[in-house]
Amino acid sequence: MSNIGKAIRHKRFQIQPKRDVTLFIETSIGRKISLKILDCSRNGICAAMMDSESENYPELQPSDIIPNGKIMVDDFEYALGRLVLRTIRTVDGANLLGFSTVDLAVPITGSFSKYLSDPLNESNTPYNFELSSKKFTIANFSSDNQSNVDLFAKCRQFSIYLEEWEKTNKYAYHNIRTASKGTRISLQRKRSNGRNDYIIMGSNDYLGLAAHPEVIEAARRALDKYGFGSTGSSVTTGITDLHEKLSQRIAQLYGKEKALLFNSGYTANVGIINGLTGVQDFISCDFKAHASIHDAIQMSRATNRCFKHNDINHLDRILKENRDKHEGALVVTEGIFSMDGDIPPLDEIYRVARKHNARLMVDEAHSLGVIGPRGLGAADKFNLIDEVDVIMGTFSKICGGIGGFAVGTKQVVDWLHHFSRPYLFSISLPPSTVAAADKALEIFESDKSALKRLKDNIRHFAMGLKNIGFNINENHESSIIPVVIGDEAKLGIMYEKLLQAGIFVVPIIYPAVSRNNCRFRFTICSEHSIADLDLALMALIDAMKLANFSPLHTTNKENINDES
Ligand SMILES: Cc1ncc(COP(=O)(O)O)c(C=O)c1O
Repeated sequence: MSNIGKAIRHKRFQIQPKRDVTLFIETSIGRKISLKILDCSRNGICAAMMDSESENYPELQPSDIIPNGKIMVDDFEYALGRLVLRTIRTVDGANLLGFSTVDLAVPITGSFSKYLSDPLNESNTPYNFELSSKKFTIANFSSDNQSNVDLFAKCRQFSIYLEEWEKTNKYAYHNIRTASKGTRISLQRKRSNGRNDYIIMGSNDYLGLAAHPEVIEAARRALDKYGFGSTGSSVTTGITDLHEKLSQRIAQLYGKEKALLFNSGYTANVGIINGLTGVQDFISCDFKAHASIHDAIQMSRATNRCFKHNDINHLDRILKENRDKHEGALVVTEGIFSMDGDIPPLDEIYRVARKHNARLMVDEAHSLGVIGPRGLGAADKFNLIDEVDVIMGTFSKICGGIGGFAVGTKQVVDWLHHFSRPYLFSISLPPSTVAAADKALEIFESDKSALKRLKDNIRHFAMGLKNIGFNINENHESSIIPVVIGDEAKLGIMYEKLLQAGIFVVPIIYPAVSRNNCRFRFTICSEHSIADLDLALMALIDAMKLANFSPLHTTNKENINDES
């Protein structure tokens, strides 16, 4: 049984003495049986057979599904739906049957609680014991080893955990922004001083283009002229001239032959990787590549092996062992890694890929608009734009919008146009989004002042962290600056303290990173003022004091391959 399974059964409530509570079941062949309930948890019931003649019920076997169960006490009846008979034991001559619920939870918190021996009050709810958020993380629920006869059983278990998790300061999955844009936003959540404005330090709008007046105006004009949506996929309703203009701009920007637009960076990765590879091919991607790359590889029928983070020798070994057994081969890495903010040795990756006659794809999601002499990403930084076979990018970072792209040779992009399923089988981007992205790229190309401000801000914040004692590379180049805390309890305390100081930075926990690498992921934007950054650094110092944390960990860990 999984840990969750065990925990969920851990807290049991005995039926109060002198109370007769009956479990009424109907077996698979329609026979009705009354059992005396001895104890129960939210998900299970232990009941004794009154006549202790279980051999008279051969249809009752462990693992059997009982189609119908209900609890009967006094005048009440509580329907339980299906039950699974888990165990039959004989104790002191009585047959004890253990059931788990499938459709509904045992109503231990409602009016039924008065029949239970443990008093139920706010500070002593079963959740604290059963699925404590101290003991479990969200990752426990995503593991495949949970099994139950009902597909939704895991949802019910998760809801128990969630109820408690939401009450803790570690919970950061639901923050609601009210009308505001740029680096100073408003949240519904109020600080203790009554204010609800926050400096956002988790935004990907690195160059402040999402709130740029000309970008907003371009979207507004397109909305007036073209309406709300594009009305269909490119195959069914065509694309607009705005889509065509934006793809051409991207191709020109990179000096490549052709570009194709996707609805997001996620679908671009799925569309490119899945569209280009098949059962006869081989893919190797960096272990720390974004979920969309891993998902794309799962969807592809190609054989795959990850190489250790930025480990060229490992990539070389993998290709040596696998390349000859397959037809095509694709190596995938990122321009800047989304959790650690580090940059791969792209020149060496390119060399190894070519040595084994493999194609190279780079996801420039976080690097476009940030690194390289022209701000085009890692391929630009390493002077490899012509050499990288497919460059993937997204508008979610360079301009805080939505939409992705692939850029490469005409032949490859034409292939994707006709074989990439997310491109073919999903509506194309709304014209207003396309117009805004086009305007944002135009501004980016013609005015590099935001890029310069961004680089200055990154340096300022990195130096500030170094002065506090974090082990950060002074030449840190990416907007993503991880501040590793390594202790979820301290992370929670610090998160709350930073929010109170008006700094909105999201804690990243397992499974996005390994447990001892849980962290804040600060993202720096061109529109942060130096005062904003200093305020965040001061607030971080206060939070560290409160949580009794000292920065023993590095903030820019390379080669972490211990996602566990
Ligand atoms: C490296 C990387 N690739 C792809 C994506 C997906 O991009 P989008 O959010 O535009 O779908 C992300 C998103 O954060 C990312 O970090």
